[in-house]
Amino acid sequence: MNIVVTGANRGLGYAVTAELLKRGHSVIAGVRGDAASPDERNSRLFRLGEQYPGRLLTALLDVADEAVIADAAASLKGSGVELDAIVNNAAILLGRGSRLEELDLEDMAASMDINLYGPVRVVKHFLPLFGDRSGCIVNISSEAGSLTNAYGGDYPYALSKAALNMFSQQLHRYLQARDIAVHAVHPGWIRTDMGGEQAPGDPEDAARGIADLIERRIAPASGPFVFIDHRGQSLPI
Ligand SMILES: NC(=O)c1ccc[n+]([C@@H]2O[C@H](COP(=O)([O-])OP(=O)(O)OC[C@H]3O[C@@H](n4cnc5c(N)ncnc54)[C@H](OP(=O)(O)O)[C@@H]3O)[C@@H](O)[C@H]2O)c1
Repeated sequence: MNIVVTGANRGLGYAVTAELLKRGHSVIAGVRGDAASPDERNSRLFRLGEQYPGRLLTALLDVADEAVIADAAASLKGSGVELDAIVNNAAILLGRGSRLEELDLEDMAASMDINLYGPVRVVKHFLPLFGDRSGCIVNISSEAGSLTNAYGGDYPYALSKAALNMFSQQLHRYLQARDIAVHAVHPGWIRTDMGGEQAPGDPEDAARGIADLIERRIAPASGPFVFIDHRGQSLPI
């Protein structure tokens, strides 16, 4: 399969990229910075690519920049690349612990821009590359976006992920007839720069679940909503 992963240079995005390559897939790894040569930000990803010649293509994909996304999609289309899956992984967590009274609305706007509009931009421009193939779109969400379990904090992140769940649900309805599965996946609290060292979860474990979902090795629990964990279990929307 040919699979786009955003935010592929570190954290969960890197783990998903490594797992997909290990399973024999080709990955278009979305990065910021220099997509053509190994700068400090992306050096680990470039080293990974050396283990899988010809199967890791890095692409400049700042998810906040629609023109850059459109260029990347056009360039892949021009090279005849067809897609089977997208993993919308890139996200930011800003204003952790801010009380509402001190909330910086810039954090709110940036979170919506990257965590919600980012996946919308990516799907808008990369969906045509599926052609008439079936496939899968995984939007990496968070339990912080659950309305049922709202905990009264992390407004920028929680609201952006709740809205991402709505986008995922809409997309599911839109793509159902084309057999493109859509999942909004909470990967667990995992050890990454975002999750911190004390997180109990392992990004490699979450990555295996996400790869299983893409390969349809695990079928998500049937239910009205597409919000699930990385093992395919339904989560409260
Ligand atoms: N960690 C957790 O416990 C946890 C829990 C629930 C959900 N999640 C979700 O899991 C996903 C991955 O999180 P993580 O823990 O791996 O986070 P992370 O370690 O902070 O990595 C974030 C990734 O997103 C990229 N990114 C940020 N802004 C971007 C932009 N404008 N365009 C393109 N890429 C951008 C970063 O690239 P740069 O290196 O260029 O900044 C990096 O690759 C996120 O959707 C997050 O919300 C994580």
